[in-house]
Amino acid sequence: MQKKQNCVWITGANSGIGKSITHQFAKSDIFCVASARRKDALVRMKDEVSEISNNIEIFPLDISSSDEISDVSKKILKKYDIDCLINNAGITTFTAAEDDSIEDVIAIIQINLIGSIATIQSLIPHFKKRGCGIIINILSVVATKVLKNSSIYSASKAGLLTYANVLREEVRKYNIKVINILPGATKTPIWSSEMLNKYANKMMSPDDLAKFIYHIYTLDSNLVPEEITIRPIGGDL
Ligand SMILES: NC(=O)c1ccc[n+]([C@@H]2O[C@H](COP(=O)([O-])OP(=O)(O)OC[C@H]3O[C@@H](n4cnc5c(N)ncnc54)[C@H](OP(=O)(O)O)[C@@H]3O)[C@@H](O)[C@H]2O)c1
Repeated sequence: MQKKQNCVWITGANSGIGKSITHQFAKSDIFCVASARRKDALVRMKDEVSEISNNIEIFPLDISSSDEISDVSKKILKKYDIDCLINNAGITTFTAAEDDSIEDVIAIIQINLIGSIATIQSLIPHFKKRGCGIIINILSVVATKVLKNSSIYSASKAGLLTYANVLREEVRKYNIKVINILPGATKTPIWSSEMLNKYANKMMSPDDLAKFIYHIYTLDSNLVPEEITIRPIGGDL
């Protein structure tokens, strides 16, 4: 039987940090399987990447549906040997705790926490079977630092941080690395245009962050950078 193509699966790959990661990995000769909800933006991203590299295929996916996650991960695994999951898809609001609607609360927890966990779960049997794997979670500094107007987002990221820390201890014996990245403010469309106009020059570039994540991915040894906080040189906004 022909060996399957190895790949990295990136969620939230059609925008911001995920898009930069996909560009960085694809141009570094790593085959990327890219997911997100909006197919048109995924196709645009694929077309951009295809100008410099053939290392890309897209699989549209809404991680708020665990059925969809299970279905898409099976489709990917049928065709590819996933080395690494970059769990990057995420949403937020920038409102005070009392102003978040319950619909927003449910959506943020469903996508950032439950969807990320379901995506990880869909790959654990695969990683166990092949005897190795890497899970890189794109969390946020708010997983450990208190910042106003981010209560639900912070809860979702802190929840995933704790989940991942427990998971790491359970899957060490299978040679599965669980890496938590906690970035500070990064210049992406997650921010309103008002915030970007005011603070973009103080934010990190998603391309710089992607280069750093690529470096972490390529550490070819038995060490695991378990938790890395990355802030702009000027600190938080
Ligand atoms: N920018 C920052 O300052 C910053 C700082 C720390 C951490 N982060 C984290 O970095 C990650 C990427 O954020 P970003 O700043 O690059 O924001 P972004 O440009 O808004 O990208 C978010 C990505 O997530 C995808 N996504 C959202 N909901 C999804 C769902 N239900 N299913 C699948 N994909 C979904 C979006 O695509 P679709 O809408 O097409 O699905 C998009 O590709 C997030 O987890 C965010 O919390 C960002």
